[in-house]
Amino acid sequence: TYVVTENCIKCKYTDCVEVCPVDCFHEGPNMLVIDPDECIDCSLCEPECPVNAIYSEDDVPDDQYQFLEVNAELGREWPVLSEQKDPPADADEWDGVPDKLKLLER
Ligand code: SF4
Ligand code: F3S
Repeated sequence: TYVVTENCIKCKYTDCVEVCPVDCFHEGPNMLVIDPDECIDCSLCEPECPVNAIYSEDDVPDDQYQFLEVNAELGREWPVLSEQKDPPADADEWDGVPDKLKLLER
């Protein structure tokens, strides 16, 4: 499966959903996640994210492993998003800001 990691939080550009052939992105208030039970590992979404938040589970950086669980848990709860929408107005300011997990809204 592919995994959305910390840098999506408060960036949420949603370019990723446009290319997913199986609509497995799920939307929360300030982040998207991938439902690992639905992802078919096509890899199309990874290069689409402007802030490089998406990784194959095999390539998830050591400090981002907790997002495997975040995606699995919230992918079951949040609704599907299948069409791109405008990012938050201040999205650019949050690219690369560390420790955004504490800002995740559920
Ligand atoms: Fe969707 Fe493919 Fe990305 Fe999985 S790897 S989330 S199926 S675009
Ligand atoms: Fe998030 Fe990147 Fe998609 S910021 S919403 S994973 S395009």
